[in-house]
Amino acid sequence: MDATAPAEAGLVCRRLVKNYGPIKVLKSVDFALRPGTVVGLIGENGAGKSTFNSIVAGVVSPTEGEIWLDGKPYSPRSPSDALAEGVALIHQEIRLLPGLSVAENLFLGRLPLRGGRVDRARMEEEARAVLASLGVAVDPRRTVRGLTMGVQQGIEIAKALLRKPRYVIFDEPTAAVGEAEAEQILAQVMRLRAEGTGVIYVSHRLDEVQSVADSVVCLRDGAKVAEWNVKPVPKDEMINAMVGREFTFEHHAPKPRGQKVVLRVNGASRQGAFRDVSFDLQEGEILGFAGLVGAGRSEVVRAVSGADRLDAGTIEVAGQPVRYTSPGGAMKAGIFMVPEDRKGLGLNLDRSAAANITLPWERKLARFGQITPAAVKRVGEEQRRRFDIRGRLDLPVGHMSGGNQQKVLLAKWLVENPKVFIVDEPTRGVDVGAKMAIYEILRKLASEGMGVIVVSSELEEVLGLSHRILVMSEGRQRGILTREEASPEKVMSLAVSN
Ligand SMILES: Nc1ncnc2c1ncn2[C@@H]1O[C@H](COP(=O)(O)OP(=O)(O)OP(=O)(O)O)[C@@H](O)[C@H]1O
Ligand SMILES: [Mg+2]
Repeated sequence: MDATAPAEAGLVCRRLVKNYGPIKVLKSVDFALRPGTVVGLIGENGAGKSTFNSIVAGVVSPTEGEIWLDGKPYSPRSPSDALAEGVALIHQEIRLLPGLSVAENLFLGRLPLRGGRVDRARMEEEARAVLASLGVAVDPRRTVRGLTMGVQQGIEIAKALLRKPRYVIFDEPTAAVGEAEAEQILAQVMRLRAEGTGVIYVSHRLDEVQSVADSVVCLRDGAKVAEWNVKPVPKDEMINAMVGREFTFEHHAPKPRGQKVVLRVNGASRQGAFRDVSFDLQEGEILGFAGLVGAGRSEVVRAVSGADRLDAGTIEVAGQPVRYTSPGGAMKAGIFMVPEDRKGLGLNLDRSAAANITLPWERKLARFGQITPAAVKRVGEEQRRRFDIRGRLDLPVGHMSGGNQQKVLLAKWLVENPKVFIVDEPTRGVDVGAKMAIYEILRKLASEGMGVIVVSSELEEVLGLSHRILVMSEGRQRGILTREEASPEKVMSLAVSN
């Protein structure tokens, strides 16, 4: 073991190894982060980024290797250990306690006391200040339950920053938020940097990495395969290093859509969510839903897919009026939806990937009343090939990397082909390669005649995928643009209209 302490200040890792039994997740990674700089950490889904972060933040311990913090050996045994030493991690997945207030979440574990009682006034005041500095508009006294993913992400960041860490790790902080919130998070990273904080910044959005990172490290299959010290790092170089081969990222125009209307929504309203939404979806069409976070897009598709009730309006599938009050009813009518929150609603993390995929189909796949392990395995394997899922299907899906979980979620709803397939933020947290694969899947489903609705906060994604784009703001439909009409400026101007 090389015990020489690094002379310079910073966070220095030497030969970090992490094995889960026989699975080698990190293979001898060297890494250095200096105060007042930002290191971008990139890599495909499952490359080991979050595992690396978890080690640095004391969530898991490394199998081998050593870490130095400002010249001293550093081996945190827990996240609070790491925080005490000045290292904070903002998790890839939001982990707030929904039943507690925003302020309580922020101060969890160290509520300010006065005379033996929680000093609420002080807590709320400090909470208000830190939230305001991040541009998060939320009352610190309200409970977290029901807040949008974007706001929850802001609270997670505020929580870490309240501890005034010297090193902060952002693990995909913008995956769950819209463009405006993403801007704010990036501004926050730049502020921290200016104040002398060292930042590790993980993102699949490479333009973000280009704009914030002073240097970039790329992991592939647990090993460091590339490192750059220029700004900005060329995108194609980053992509090639991640994927390990020549790769170009471009959108292909979808095949022409059909004439037959598969879904017709007329005058749909839901109190407090959206009003008077009407649109057609043709056979073979990809219809994009664009708008800012909170515009009501998810609410509309939730209602169309039976998850929420409509207060007014009608829905027709292939010319037939349909009525349903549950996702099961919508499925019978031929409408399936993949929800946006893969952890909350989409997957059962303790069960295997294969079991998750077959879960909605158990009754159909059953023989003599029971689904056999062989059937689970067979269907799982088919879907793995179709969706290029990496990782073991027989292990709990919670052990898969975030992007692969996303693929499992899509695969789960496409064991059988619906008439209308709705996806809400289908590529959240997904790497470039997997993203292309998911786009390919959606285009192929459409070319086979399915009607597809894609809700996305990534403008490039909706513009690249869709035949037509429905733009919403403040719960109202502001227009439907064809592919030819839809420029980023036009979509944005409708998205901010009122
Ligand atoms: N507890 C565990 N047991 C077994 N394997 C695990 C466990 N935790 C993580 N892994 C594996 O480690 C690998 C790296 O996962 P990690 O979450 O670090 O990837 P990542 O680079 O953050 O990916 P993403 O971009 O999808 O978030 C994956 O193949 C994952 O399946
Ligand atoms: Mg990760």
